[in-house]
Amino acid sequence: MSVTAAADPTFAVTNRLPEAALTALRGAGELRIDERSEAIPRLDLLALVEGADAVLTLLHDRVDEELLEAAGPRLRCVANVAVGYDNVDVAAAAARGIVVTNTPGVLDDATADLTMALILAATRRLVEGDRLIRAGRPWTWGMSFMLGSGLRGKLLGIVGLGGIGRRVAERARAFGMEIAYHSRHPAPDEIAAELEAERLPLEELLARADILSLHCPLTPETHHLIGEAALASMKPTAVLVNAARGPVVDERALAAALAAGEIAAAGLDVYEREPRVESALLELENVVLSPHLGSATVETRTAMAELAARNAISVLRGEGPLTPVPSQ
Ligand code: GLV
Repeated sequence: MSVTAAADPTFAVTNRLPEAALTALRGAGELRIDERSEAIPRLDLLALVEGADAVLTLLHDRVDEELLEAAGPRLRCVANVAVGYDNVDVAAAAARGIVVTNTPGVLDDATADLTMALILAATRRLVEGDRLIRAGRPWTWGMSFMLGSGLRGKLLGIVGLGGIGRRVAERARAFGMEIAYHSRHPAPDEIAAELEAERLPLEELLARADILSLHCPLTPETHHLIGEAALASMKPTAVLVNAARGPVVDERALAAALAAGEIAAAGLDVYEREPRVESALLELENVVLSPHLGSATVETRTAMAELAARNAISVLRGEGPLTPVPSQ
């Protein structure tokens, strides 16, 4: 009697990933990869996943019923190379017995660093100053020239005190800031004590924060969490920073609030309709814009891709996911 060896599993990878992750996947099965560095078009994505055992996706790849259907019955794991997984219909995957994983932890420091960069750039008018010099406009050191605001003694309000929020709080403490937060669940006692962080209802956090920094996931509950009413309740001197997901903020309402001086400034890394940015924001001096760079360091992207690869391999080996998304 001849025994047929089980076919190697197929890993569909929707984008070019750091080599270490690809090497791990090649060692565990067949690799089918779309080599483009920009987002894969939908029809190509649906074709790529057909018959795959695991799919490694990026945050702009929509994983829904249509994609799961296109993949077919072999699919056992969707490994999202991101901590956020609002691009994945987790319930639809679970209904088919497909495990969804994300990449928590490995990007906390990089995203917290970028958040601090946005806080500093917005409060110290760094990009506005850069634009002034490049435009060749005359300037001279002056007692009241381009004054910003300092951080020591100011209140940083954090929405969502998960891994990234905590790393931001640690950094802000080193800058002499006070910390308050709003989160669905209270932070563990030792973390709240270490950060001396007070948990507040959202309304109170909005009213008291000097800097409000968003670190919550995008869910139906957090969609447009910061809209017209929330912005109106903030201090006129407040700065809003969003390095979480664009749709947590109503971009049009934010542009109006910034133009009207309802809040002082904003630092944004994410947008409601990426890669588009609300045109009214582009006209404003008091907003710093970066193109979704939170986790964009060589070290972090390598760690994210490796973690996603290890998740997919582990699931296909029957050893279970390392970092399944929390709702599973
Ligand atoms: C980046 O935005 C991520 O969710 O990893």
